[in-house]
Order: sequence, then structure tokens, then C-alpha cells
Amino acid sequence: MSMIARQCPDLRVTVADFNEDRIKAWNSDELPIYEPGLDEIVEEARGRNLVFTTDVRQAIESSEMIFVSVGTPTKAHGIGAGRAADLKYIESAARLIAEVSHGHKIVVEKSTIPVKTASAIRTILTSNTRNGATFEVLSNPEFLAEGTAIEDLRDPDRILIGGDPSSSGRDAVEALVEIYGRWVPRDRLITTNLWSSELSKLVANAFLAQRISSINSISALCEATGADVDEVARAVGADSRIGPKFLKASVGFGGSCFKKDVLNLVYLCESFGLREVADYWYQVVGINEWQKRRFVETMVRTLFNTLSGKRIAVLGFAFKKDTDDTRESAAIQVCTDLLAEHASVTIYDPRVDEATIRQDLEEAGVDVGDLAERLEVCSDPYSAAAGAHALAVLTEWDEFRELDLPRIQSDMLKPAFVFDGRSVLPYEELKRLGFEPFTIGRSLRV
Ligand code: UDX
Repeated sequence: MSMIARQCPDLRVTVADFNEDRIKAWNSDELPIYEPGLDEIVEEARGRNLVFTTDVRQAIESSEMIFVSVGTPTKAHGIGAGRAADLKYIESAARLIAEVSHGHKIVVEKSTIPVKTASAIRTILTSNTRNGATFEVLSNPEFLAEGTAIEDLRDPDRILIGGDPSSSGRDAVEALVEIYGRWVPRDRLITTNLWSSELSKLVANAFLAQRISSINSISALCEATGADVDEVARAVGADSRIGPKFLKASVGFGGSCFKKDVLNLVYLCESFGLREVADYWYQVVGINEWQKRRFVETMVRTLFNTLSGKRIAVLGFAFKKDTDDTRESAAIQVCTDLLAEHASVTIYDPRVDEATIRQDLEEAGVDVGDLAERLEVCSDPYSAAAGAHALAVLTEWDEFRELDLPRIQSDMLKPAFVFDGRSVLPYEELKRLGFEPFTIGRSLRV
């Protein structure tokens, strides 16, 4: 919304949320999320044509187009628990829009939702309207990635807009095309029917996650055979039909979208009786869970089959670099497993604060209070590594490429084991400096 406000100074963009603390933060100098370049954009547009407010009703009433951007978490109970999307926030947003609206409104699904949700939204809107309002529902999924959000929004590969084929549906699509068309070339604006648009978002994320699980599955084979997964990825990705992106082996993908969306797709397939399709996609998540476990198993095996009483330094807790987001981060599972092995864990991340790390581990089932002595969050990588038996890199922060490795080596216990889950440290140099390095997708034997 900030990017729309920035690119279209003549439009008034109101971001409304019931959460007072969040809105207060959006109106302050300390935005509630870290995203490179976002501060400048918000600063430029805020107060001019970008407004953050808790007055949700007024925001709905005064707007011609309403982007529904509420959370769609995985259902925690009942039918589809652990897989299906919980649409309670979508439904309550639609009910509120119906109650408050006058005249004609275009309601845009921005949240990632299962196919056919537009039809549910339309039913709720039309059966609850009080003031004779009319509605058109569009689907406009968001493809930005965290850490590169501003660039992704400024110069997107494509903008997808799904709408109804009726004449008022086509008018609504055209109204949204007109907004994006201010800065996105027309040939990148893809218009489709509603169901194709809704499904494409899930499928795009499933394909991306599938590529990572594919290369991660091959990383295990590389470790077993002496092949190097980065070299294999380079050779395979050089085929223009395959392409080089999203082939970086890792300790496992995280983030708020991939697992949730793949499971959502799996549930969708199951509910249409497509068992084989559901099983096929489920393996993308299955391999990812295995990759995280496998990483810890390698650590245990290498550290003479026990981590009990050993000190492990973990560098990186965010699910990827350039974000403070930890949702579904591989680090949560890895640290939980290390603590379950009775290791002492010292964690450093340049952006994630201590309270978030402790809360994430607690939610993952770690009794943080009980483990006070075995869990430490450090403010720099060197104090995390000092006195450690092993170092594990779990996020690919650029600053980890610049570490003073001789200093770390001399401060660690020997043998100084390094487990690089992101392949960011210089393997040959680590060896030369006297470390015992393990890099994901690279054999210990070579
Ligand atoms: C993703 C999609 O990329 C984006 O289009 C969608 O809108 C939201 O979900 P995001 O989760 O922000 O975006 O980050 P992304 O860059 O896709 O990374 C997801 C995870 O995959 C991270 O944990 C990342 O480290 C991991 N990853 C990514 C790999 O392990 N290897 C890769 O080659 C790429």
C-alpha cells in the first residue's frame, strides 16, 4: 500500500487495523517491521496520501477499493487442522465491509487464500449488505519476497489480477489495472478469471518451495558421494529451461508462506479427491522437515555422538537475510533439537531480538525458563562463538561472510567444528585456519 501511495500521489491510501500498537508504530519513526528501503517510502507518502488508522469503519466507508490483507493462518483445530487455511479473519472483514458500505465497492483479495474464496466473500457481502451497496470482488495476490520487498514492488515480474467476466467485473479489473499501470509495464499486468488468480499464488509458492526441496534432497546425495551441491546447482541451473534461481541448498526453507501454502494446496487437492496430487506436493514439506533434522543429526554424529554439556554457537535466527522475521525459520527447529540433545546454545542474529528468539523457542515447546543456564542470546558473533565446541550458520546474513575467522578459531574449543547450513563461509579457508568444517551439500570426506 505504501508503494501504491508513493507511485500514485493523487490517490488516498488508508491502512486500517484494529491493533492500536501496530498503527502507532506505523505512525512513528520506528516501523513495526524491518524491510530495507521501506522507511523512506513510508516517510515520503505518510501524511501526504498515506494514512495509518485504527478507524477501520471510516476507512471502509470512505474508500472505493478495499484490499483485504488479513492473515490466513493454518487451521489449528477441527476439519483440516494443520493444513487448511483458517478464513475467520477474511470472513469477519467481509461482514464488516458489508455492514459499513454504501454505493459501489471493489473488494480486492490480497491475502493468500484457497481457490473459490472470492465466491464465499461475494456471498457474505451480498447477503449482509444493509445500505443497498453493490460489490465486485477481485483477486490480486502478492508475490513480493521479504528482504527485497521494495524492489519486488517497484519492478515486479508480473502483477496478477483475477476478476469476474461480467461487464462490472471487467470494469473493476480495469480500475486496478489503471493503478498498477502507472508504474508497471502493461505486458506485465496479467488478467485472468478469479479462480486462476487465486490458484496461481499457491502454485507459484509451491513451485518455488519445490525447487528448494529438490536441491536440498540432492544436497544429501552430494554429501554421500563427494559431489558439491553448489557446483551441481550451477551446472543444472545453466540450462535455460531450468534457470539458476532458487537452487541454493540450505538447512531448510522457512518464512510465513511456503509451508502454509503448500499444505493449503495439499488440503485443496485432498478435498477434491486428488490423493496422488496431494501426496506429491506433501513431499515438498516432508523433505524440508527432514533437511532440518538431518542437519542436527550430522552435528550429533560429528561431535562424537553426544551434544550433552557441549556449547553450540548459532549464527542467524531469521528465516533469511535482511529481515527480522523468524516465522517458520529453520533455526527454531534446529535450536529446539540442539537443546533436546542437552547442548548449551548461544545465539546471535543481527536483527532478531532476544524476546523474539525466546518466544519462538517457547512456542516450539522449549521450556525457556527451565533452560535458563543452557540458552544465551548474544549481541555479537564473537561472544556467541567464544568457548564453543561448534558453530552453526543458519541464516545467510552478509556480515557472516566478513567474520574474523582466525579470532573465532582461536576462541573456540578444539577441534573447532563449523556447520555451515547456508554455504556462506569459505570452506577452503576454514580448513586452512584449522577448523573442522561441514558445509551443507558437501562431503566431509573430501
Ligand atoms: C516467498 C516467495 O518468494 C514470494 O514470492 C511470496 O510472495 C512469499 O513467499 P519469502 O518467504 O519472503 O517469499 O522469501 P523467499 O526468498 O522466497 O525465501 C523463502 C525461504 O526459502 C527462506 O528461508 C530462504 O532462505 C529459503 N531459500 C530460498 C533457500 O533455502 N534456497 C533458495 O535457493 C531460495
